[in-house]
Amino acid sequence: MNIYSSPLINLAIACFFILSLRGLTFPKSAHRSNILGIMGICLAISISLISIRHQFLALSAIVIGAIIGIYISQKIKLTALPQAVAAFNGLGGLAAFLISCSAVLEENSDIIDTPVSAALGIFTFSGSFIAFAKLQGLIKINFHQISQTINIGLFFILILAMLRYAYHPELIYFCILSGISFILGISVTGRIGGADMPIVIALLNATTGLDSAVIGFVINNILLITTGALIGVSGMILAYIMCQAMNRSLFSVLFNPKALQTETDVFDNDKIIKTASPADAAFIMGNARKIIIVPGYGMAVAQAQHVLKQMAMLLIKKYNVEVKFAIHPVAGRMPGHMNVLLAEADIPYEYIFGLSDINNEFSSADVAYVIGANDITNPLAKTDATSAIFGMPILDVSKSKTVLIVKRSLSFGYTGLDNPLFYADNTLMLFGDAQKVTAEIVKDLEHQ
Ligand code: TAP
Repeated sequence: MNIYSSPLINLAIACFFILSLRGLTFPKSAHRSNILGIMGICLAISISLISIRHQFLALSAIVIGAIIGIYISQKIKLTALPQAVAAFNGLGGLAAFLISCSAVLEENSDIIDTPVSAALGIFTFSGSFIAFAKLQGLIKINFHQISQTINIGLFFILILAMLRYAYHPELIYFCILSGISFILGISVTGRIGGADMPIVIALLNATTGLDSAVIGFVINNILLITTGALIGVSGMILAYIMCQAMNRSLFSVLFNPKALQTETDVFDNDKIIKTASPADAAFIMGNARKIIIVPGYGMAVAQAQHVLKQMAMLLIKKYNVEVKFAIHPVAGRMPGHMNVLLAEADIPYEYIFGLSDINNEFSSADVAYVIGANDITNPLAKTDATSAIFGMPILDVSKSKTVLIVKRSLSFGYTGLDNPLFYADNTLMLFGDAQKVTAEIVKDLEHQ
């Protein structure tokens, strides 16, 4: 028996991955879980390397891939992680597609598994790169003009091409089904935008995993089947959680996507806003009893988490204020984005609360300190049935006595919507970079 088909070794590696995934659910155990995952993957790679024919070629590919991976991880900004995840997802899909191609060219392919893995792989590849381009700001429009009917038509042609390949496994049908899946990846992902993007990323993650599992059947590798299934199911659970967070069904995300608003549609320069200085904010917060801090994407851009911790600790220790952090499930640009940043700044977990645990506390808060957040606080989600975020649960910051909003301008968040919260009676805008403004507040709190 080949060592990599040994059930015991496969079971051991699967245990590493399952324990790793389980631990990643909690911030406290996330670091240990990452190490378990790395150990599992190292063991899986070593076992695979021992068991294959072209070891030197495979090792060279691993070394080159590792060097590129290390380079990208060193260079990439934390704010660009979501698009990096989307791109890596796409490469996973491409790898699976190429394995299917090699199985077809070696005439070693299964008539069911191979077309399924090829279709899923190339769909994931093209879909992920559209997601990457949207998150990177390279594509600003949604392909809404691509009618759903065309997508459904393409899907049926794909099924027909697969069936045809099953009866006549000829290269031409394989090329047709691959081409259609490639186009479907672009047209399906291209239609989705606005607040639905987090769900799409989780879904593409799931398709990469499922595709790896199918490839496991094609090349008869139990390890790939197990790990692919784990990734696929985790991705689906994440997509489900994201759907719940956005109050959307998966069906409506895929088949009834909401449009991104264009800035000129909604912006109104004549509305009245009230502004405050960092000194005003320090005075208000120093006299408060309870403050809830709401971080968003702008905190990540400004890397304001460390100075935010300083501010929170000063308020707690010097001013005896009760301070809590409220995290919206889709704050930032990737699942857990805010939790990662707050953990990086060593903000104790007991101060951090999810939306459902804290939302009814805003009415008892003196101040909501909204730092670089926008869409996740936008009341249009409750009041405007035509808006791209209608139905999404928001953090009810407007129920606090005073809302302090730190951002650089009145410009929009990810969904391109104006935010009526900026013009509310109890809102004070603190214009500036999140890190600089918070640092000035810290200075004022120290000397006040
Ligand atoms: P956004 O609605 O995107 O708002 C972020 C705000 O931060 C912007 O309005 C921007 O305003 C401000 N900002 C940017 N840089 C700043 C800086 N240096 N200092 C201060 N402010 C700065 O963020 P959010 O409230 O976190 O909501 C997240 C949005 O992203 C949701 O629509 C969500 O659906 C979407 N999304 C989420 C994910 C995941 S999984 N979390 C993935 C994809 C998309 P100024 O330019 O005026 O400063």
